[in-house]
Amino acid sequence: MFVIAGNWKMYKTPQETQKYIKEFLPLLTRGQDRRFLIFPPATNLDSALAATQDTPLEVGAQNCHFQNEGAFTGETSPRTLSQMGVRVVLVGHSERRTLFKEADDVLAKKVKAIQDLGMTPLLCLGESLADREAGNTQRVIEKQLHEGLRLADTGSRLMIAYEPVWAIGTGKVATPQQAEDAHSFLRGVLQNIGGIEFAQQTRILYGGSVKPSNAQELASQKNINGFLVGGASLEPAEFAQIANVSIM
Ligand code: PGA
Repeated sequence: MFVIAGNWKMYKTPQETQKYIKEFLPLLTRGQDRRFLIFPPATNLDSALAATQDTPLEVGAQNCHFQNEGAFTGETSPRTLSQMGVRVVLVGHSERRTLFKEADDVLAKKVKAIQDLGMTPLLCLGESLADREAGNTQRVIEKQLHEGLRLADTGSRLMIAYEPVWAIGTGKVATPQQAEDAHSFLRGVLQNIGGIEFAQQTRILYGGSVKPSNAQELASQKNINGFLVGGASLEPAEFAQIANVSIM
């Protein structure tokens, strides 16, 4: 199943969320072979879940704590997300790692907490420009994957997003070959961690300046199983063009 996911970051109000969903749904022309997800801000999850009921569009959360409750001012409980009907939660987006200093050991606990509740963690990882230029891409993403999955259950649901930091929000997309190389490398690491079936079943999404103009070529790469789209997911028509891309 190809996965097309939109990460809205801190954009849109609850009203704008409902308007978006109403506009977006009729634009979808393909369905059977793919899964559609949006990740609105936590404040809009209620409206998004209500507006997507009985539709092919699923709603995910951008972040959560690793504890279900406690004295954690300002945090979001994974149990609450699960009870609300959220099925997928982003973990370790590069903005969480860099701006909010989330480290791999905390991310590993989040992955476990999300899986324990029957939800799917979507673990994000990717190298910085300095890592790539120093030839450290594989070393960095292998470490992020290993550490992020340190407490994970390889028999439970899981998705990965490869998002090179230098491609996020920059308009500078990885070439299809660069993305495919990283994805096939990550597939091998997944196989070492959990075996061949686990590696094949785990969807690896590409993220970083995905646009209607580059989605087709990226989607045709063997190890790219979907997209995590930021900027281009904010306009229903633009996101729909990506969602309707043809898949081999
Ligand atoms: P972008 O963001 O598509 O705007 O580059 C991707 C992301 O941050 O997930």
